[in-house]
Amino acid sequence: MSRKIVVTSALPYSNGPIHIGHLVEYLQTDIWVRFQKICGNQCFYFCADDTHGTPIMISARDKNIEPEKLIDQVHKEHKADFDNFFIEFDNYYSTHSPENKQFSQEIYKRLKQAGSIVKKNIEQTYCENCNMFLPDRFVRGICPKCKADDQYGDSCDKCGGTYHPTDLIESHCSVCGNTPSLKKSDHLFFKLADYTPQLKELIASGYTQQSMSNKLKEWFDSGLKDWDISRDGPYFGFEIPGEENKFFYVWLDAPIGYMASVKNYCDNNGLDFEKLWNSDEYELYHFIGKDIMYFHALFFPAMLIGSGYKTADKLFVHGFLTVNGEKMSKSKGTFIKASTYLNHLNPEYLRYYYASKLTGGVEDLDLSVEDFINKTNSNLVGKFANLASRSGPMLKKKLDGKTGALNQAGKKLIEKLASAKEEIIKDYENLNYASAVRLIVSLADDANKYIEENEPWKTVKEDLEKTRTTLTAAINAVKILTIYLKPILPEYAGKVEEFLNVEPLTFDDVEKTLENHTINKFKRLINRVEREQVDAMIEESKQDQAQQPPTKEEKPQLPIEPIAQECTIDDFIKADLRIAKVIEVGPVEGADKLLALKLDIGGIEKNVFAGIAKAYKPEELIGKLVVCVANLKPRKMKFGISEGMILAAGPGGKDIFMLSVDQGATPGQRIK
Ligand code: 2FM
Ligand code: ZN
Repeated sequence: MSRKIVVTSALPYSNGPIHIGHLVEYLQTDIWVRFQKICGNQCFYFCADDTHGTPIMISARDKNIEPEKLIDQVHKEHKADFDNFFIEFDNYYSTHSPENKQFSQEIYKRLKQAGSIVKKNIEQTYCENCNMFLPDRFVRGICPKCKADDQYGDSCDKCGGTYHPTDLIESHCSVCGNTPSLKKSDHLFFKLADYTPQLKELIASGYTQQSMSNKLKEWFDSGLKDWDISRDGPYFGFEIPGEENKFFYVWLDAPIGYMASVKNYCDNNGLDFEKLWNSDEYELYHFIGKDIMYFHALFFPAMLIGSGYKTADKLFVHGFLTVNGEKMSKSKGTFIKASTYLNHLNPEYLRYYYASKLTGGVEDLDLSVEDFINKTNSNLVGKFANLASRSGPMLKKKLDGKTGALNQAGKKLIEKLASAKEEIIKDYENLNYASAVRLIVSLADDANKYIEENEPWKTVKEDLEKTRTTLTAAINAVKILTIYLKPILPEYAGKVEEFLNVEPLTFDDVEKTLENHTINKFKRLINRVEREQVDAMIEESKQDQAQQPPTKEEKPQLPIEPIAQECTIDDFIKADLRIAKVIEVGPVEGADKLLALKLDIGGIEKNVFAGIAKAYKPEELIGKLVVCVANLKPRKMKFGISEGMILAAGPGGKDIFMLSVDQGATPGQRIK
């Protein structure tokens, strides 16, 4: 029975062009979807542009156009690039759509009703001149760690350090250059941690590859944080119902965009959205890069669970692209736009090359220019196309284009090729295209060897029927190999189908032989790639980079805090740690996580607020000996002045562990 499948690829941002790094994912997905389709399964492929956020708003402002206009232009460019690479979406939609607004608001309302949304007042960098809060990527300054100039507010490109925007030296707003200030505002948070049990269960069920599950386990162990889903206006996005001038953070409505794309397609094609998206009748898979794994393995499934939707069957996570063993580089011309590639090279070269290297794992994929040229010329042209061009034209010209019957040797060859079908299907299904390609290449070697041994170019001069028998085997080999390659090389396969004079081929046709069948005139299938073409593409990419690159979208927020700015051992030993006896404990009105402690530090009393109320009861603390940072500068809090700090740590809530000391110690005693 055939399967019903819904597939998505990550939604590319509307603030920049598609490049060859993006294409790893879209080609990986497209190959899988085409494979499912030619196996006879019903498989829908959905995607959309990811249109919201500050960078798009600013970029539109810079161009003096409305963001809607900008995202429309980019949508056209993205779609053209995808079409030109034969990436065949069933629907390529937009997150700036009525369906997406409806779903985003609806899901938010359901989450709110479920008690999964909390409001918190937080402090953020704000530009008084631009009248807006600045995402971390829009605060620039000197890296506090390595002192590199002009770094982003969240991380340094030079030393890789991460920090808060307030840590930057000489920080300024990247839009206007003004020094930002700090301003408080209410934000809405999604209580991700509430869904920890369901998420753990999902991951345990094999939702992602094993290496990803291990990474997720680390995040679970350090505790999931509340997730800030709101942004203050001005912001290009959807307004949050019931709030004033607050918008959904782009990462809330982005994955919901998958649903919007499905809904839009269903409405236009008389299909039932509930069935496609939310029923067991359809399998659901998301293809994503490893950088956005936590959105798809944590935030999005939690949102779906909280609002009553099913989660996907699996996430297929892939690695990044490197070129010649290094990160894509603008100055080296290896940051290649899809459209630049297409100015010089055939898209099927890249489809084939990526396929020959994709294994279904999360390792990075390297595009080595040498290897790319070699594989294209020796396999694609030298093995597959060559087999067709040595048999098709001769059969047409000398033998009226008519195949005969297979002889014993021909049958043996064709049976060998056909018997690889199940293994190739398994490789495609498991995304191990590299293994499928290796096998197909070795079968092409067998077929070419068969031709060489039978020398039709010689026999054609003395024995036409023998030649027909040889070419019949060759034509059948071409047909089978083309079926195997068809998910990877759709245009090439189309040309072969045309010259073989057959209906669009599917895996079902592997066992059907073309005997006593008339073929059409042979047309060239594919050209060799020349080194000069590749060099010209790299040269053009270098020129491209002279233009200002688009501002990146805000970095996805990790569920774990970045490591704070480093402190030296000298800083650290400034802390004067003393044994302290807890002499009074009481609750703090309006702060249910805090306890107010009075400590005796050897005759000196200090009042300290400690966030341990969920972990310890006041009565169990009285008389305890704890460790206190005695020289901490008193800090004014909403509830009073805190004059120190006791040592306690843990992920939070009930899991906080206070360092308590043997009763033999003396209050005030210094500890090291
Ligand atoms: O990382 C990105 O490029 C995002 N635009 C991907 C979004 S995928 C999904 F969540 F919408
Ligand atoms: Zn500004």
